[in-house]
Amino acid sequence: MFKKQKSLIGLDIGAHAVKAVELTQMGSEFVVTAYAQSDIDPDAARGDAIIDMLQGHVFRTRRVATAVSGKSVIVRYLTMVHMSDDDLRNAVKFEADKYIPFDIDEVVLDAQRLDDGGRRFEGLADDEMRVLLVAVKRSLIEDHVGLVQSIGLQPSVIDVDAFALGNAFEFRNQFAPNVEQDHRVSALIDVGAQKSNIIILRGGALCFTREIYLGGDDLTSAASKRLGCEMHQAEALKRQPGDNIEALRDAVLPTIDDLGNEIHLSFDYFENQFDQPVDDVFLSGGGVELPLVAETFEKIFEKRTRQWDPTERLAVDEDAVDVDALRANAGQLAVVMGLACRLRKD
Ligand SMILES: Nc1ncnc2c1ncn2[C@@H]1O[C@H](COP(=O)(O)OP(=O)(O)OP(=O)(O)O)[C@@H](O)[C@H]1O
Ligand SMILES: [Mg+2]
Repeated sequence: MFKKQKSLIGLDIGAHAVKAVELTQMGSEFVVTAYAQSDIDPDAARGDAIIDMLQGHVFRTRRVATAVSGKSVIVRYLTMVHMSDDDLRNAVKFEADKYIPFDIDEVVLDAQRLDDGGRRFEGLADDEMRVLLVAVKRSLIEDHVGLVQSIGLQPSVIDVDAFALGNAFEFRNQFAPNVEQDHRVSALIDVGAQKSNIIILRGGALCFTREIYLGGDDLTSAASKRLGCEMHQAEALKRQPGDNIEALRDAVLPTIDDLGNEIHLSFDYFENQFDQPVDDVFLSGGGVELPLVAETFEKIFEKRTRQWDPTERLAVDEDAVDVDALRANAGQLAVVMGLACRLRKD
């Protein structure tokens, strides 16, 4: 008999690159059945960039999970008295204006009770719970949905980059058991082009998220300024520095230090709040492809800091997917994998 199959495309529309990964569930197995990625031409429309990327690839579905991020996305952790999920949704509508810098009528709200991985959150009374509140400007969601629909795809999930990152890690760990022990505190950092996402998971439960508006493009601008070259030349230099490695290093190191120190402040905040140190740091995103980034971060954090592969041990349809390209770019695919794996909850 044929196994029942269903598919979902994760679509990560970044500031620098667009990425699509299609996952198909065949029985209990998940298989990558399509993968495409391309850089966005700064002068081209984003819709055209997505159409170009998808060209030449065969997808089994039009259904897409995609994500928003940036300053129109507000994530807050609240302490509230215990209540049912229905009551929570209502309570949040009334309370949200205290926490959100936008008009409540302009935002879409979601609230969820936080599971703390079996440990009690610090400082909570017996009748209290921690709640994750997410507010996204309605206009951002509408633009995003419009963009996806305009290229003939069907938006079925709109997520947030930071949550997709966490889902990708949890999904990867499902296939690579024992990679991380359950009780450990893992910080995941995705350095994109214009921003970096930090999330901290304790025993797999999300405890902290922050977006910092520094990323790979800031390294490119620093290199372009210091070395007196055009942005596209600095971009090429980052990828293949050759003999200019020392000059590149001097140009970009202050920016990497700034980013690393900002991230370190978040670790300090977490460690104070939760009275537990961050154990491991996992890096993803195109911004950490420059090896100097991980090396510098490790010195600043004084913790083991490494890139991780969200496609590790995942089955791939080798007839449909360029496996070498997928593996080579795997470090940049955390967010898109976290989106595609929403297939599980379909
Ligand atoms: N091989 C490489 N060496 C150095 N830097 C690289 C390499 N590949 C990509 N980058 C840098 O990574 C950044 C793009 O990363 P990524 O694709 O994760 O960003 P994005 O998702 O498009 O952006 P954002 O998350 O900010 O919306 C760019 O700044 C680019 O210069
Ligand atoms: Mg990104």
